[in-house]
Amino acid sequence: MPSDGPAVSEESSGASTGERSAAAEYPEELECDVTDVRGTSLHLRPIRADDADRLVTFHSHLSPDSIYRRYFASHPLLSPTEVSHLTQVDYQERLALIILDGEEIVAVGRYDEVPPGATAEVAFLVRDDFQRRGLGRILLNKLASAAWSRGLTSFSAVTMSENRGMISVFEHCGYPVTLSADGEERYVTFPIDPAMRTSVAKGPDQPGAR
Ligand SMILES: CC(C)(COP(=O)(O)OP(=O)(O)OC[C@H]1O[C@@H](n2cnc3c(N)ncnc32)[C@H](O)[C@@H]1OP(=O)(O)O)[C@@H](O)C(=O)NCCC(=O)NCCS
Repeated sequence: MPSDGPAVSEESSGASTGERSAAAEYPEELECDVTDVRGTSLHLRPIRADDADRLVTFHSHLSPDSIYRRYFASHPLLSPTEVSHLTQVDYQERLALIILDGEEIVAVGRYDEVPPGATAEVAFLVRDDFQRRGLGRILLNKLASAAWSRGLTSFSAVTMSENRGMISVFEHCGYPVTLSADGEERYVTFPIDPAMRTSVAKGPDQPGAR
């Protein structure tokens, strides 16, 4: 299983230095409204400890295939320990962003810093009925911006070779992505320096707005 690593506009998240800053109360400035490719208005914000029930409900609505692609195993139920781990983050070395449709979580993106630091592993999970609506791309952009402003300089990920959706999100993110294969798995690494992002992907974070 891959590690769990694993908004307002990108501009407002202070993505300018890559220097470490002091940790970390709830980063309200990362909250923002987003719009998916169908024009549905959704709310993006950092996860909180009181999202435990919402996360359990989100997980219960995922298809076995989506769960397998995320956890590399059948994993129909999250244990209480997992729920605590996934919802209680320090917003610095571990950050999770959720997208809500009303009160329901429909997508989660997270990064977890990998010791000794500067790089973090990312992971994403979008509810099946919200997949291919641009949410994976929005979450990656917001996570990269937040991570850079917290002093992290690169992201890594492990995904299944057949996971076209995840690989496409990375390939089109605008950062110089390196992909390598090892059997059934693909390893992805890339710097998250905004200066290295190609201009085609630098536009607004809304799907279809590039
Ligand atoms: C993989 C996943 C995170 C992608 O998120 P998403 O919100 O569905 O992706 P987006 O709508 O942002 O799509 C981004 C790009 O990927 C493409 N894409 C998305 N799903 C795709 C699929 N199944 N096949 C081919 N391309 C796909 C989109 O067309 C889009 O391309 P574009 O940038 O050229 O427009 C989501 O489908 C998911 O949660 N899957 C199950 C769990 C999983 O695989 N997690 C990854 C573990 S690291």
